[in-house]
Amino acid sequence: MDSISFRHYPAVRMSANEVVPLLELRNVSKSYPGEVPVPVLKSARLQVARGERIAILGPSGSGKSTILNLLGTLDRPDSGSIHFDGRDLSTLDARELAQLRNRRIGFVFQSHHLLPQCTVLENVLLPTLAETGTSPASAEDRARQLLDRVGLGSRTNHVPGQLSGGERQRTAVVRALINSPLLVLADEPTGALDQANAEVLGDLLVGLNRDESVTLIVVTHSPDLARRMDRIVELRDGALVTS
Ligand SMILES: Nc1ncnc2c1ncn2[C@@H]1O[C@H](COP(=O)(O)OP(=O)(O)OP(=O)(O)O)[C@@H](O)[C@H]1O
Ligand SMILES: [Mg+2]
Repeated sequence: MDSISFRHYPAVRMSANEVVPLLELRNVSKSYPGEVPVPVLKSARLQVARGERIAILGPSGSGKSTILNLLGTLDRPDSGSIHFDGRDLSTLDARELAQLRNRRIGFVFQSHHLLPQCTVLENVLLPTLAETGTSPASAEDRARQLLDRVGLGSRTNHVPGQLSGGERQRTAVVRALINSPLLVLADEPTGALDQANAEVLGDLLVGLNRDESVTLIVVTHSPDLARRMDRIVELRDGALVTS
C-alpha cells in the first residue's frame, strides 16, 4: 500500500444498521518474556465506537499501559487481533503502522514528554513535520487556535521549563490533537497534577472529545475523571470488564 488514506475515510458499514467499531480487541493475549514470563492480558475483548469516551481502570501492574501500547500500535499482541477502523493491525507493515500512528492517533502521557529546548508552538507542531500533505501555515494556524482554546495563546514562545505542570500537560494535549486524530490515548494524564489542574485538564479532554469528534481512551486512577467518561472498563485478571 503506497499511502493509507485514513483522513476523511468513511465509516466502514457491514450492513445497513451495523457500523464497524473504531477499535476492536478480539481475544488479545500478551505476556512479557523473562525467566518467569509475566502474563498480562488473557483473551481481552473490547469494542470502542467512534466518538466514545472510555476510562480504563485497574490496579498498578494490571496491564493498563500495556493495552494502550497495543491500541497505539507501539506493540503487538502475542495472539488475538486488534482492528482499527476496520483494519486488522497485523496486516500492516512497520511503515503503514507508523503512518497510522502519526495521523490517526494522539498520545498523552502522565509526564508530558515535551522537548525542553523547543517552544510550546514547536512542540505542538512536531507531529506535523512528517506529514507532507499539510501546509506549514495551516498547521501553525491550527496549533495557535488550539493553544488559544486551552488558554496558552500567550505562551507559544515559552519553553516547557517556563510553564507550570498543568500548562505543560495542556500543551501535550494540543500536540496529541494537532493532526486531527480519530483516537486519543491518555495514560494517567492527570496523575502529576493537583486537583484544580486535573479538573481543567478533564474539562479540556471532554470538550475536545465533543467538539473535535475524537474518540478518547483514558487510563486513570482518578474517580473524578473516570466519572466523566461514557463508560468505565476495568482490567481484572487480564480481561476487560465493563463495570
Ligand atoms: N517491557 C516489559 N518487560 C517485562 N515486564 C513488563 C514490561 N512492561 C510491563 N511489564 C509488566 O507487565 C505488567 C503490566 O504492566 P503495565 O505497565 O501495563 O501496568 P499498569 O496497569 O499500567 O500499571 P501502573 O498503574 O503502575 O502504570 C506489570 O507486572 C509489569 O511489571
Ligand atoms: Mg501504567
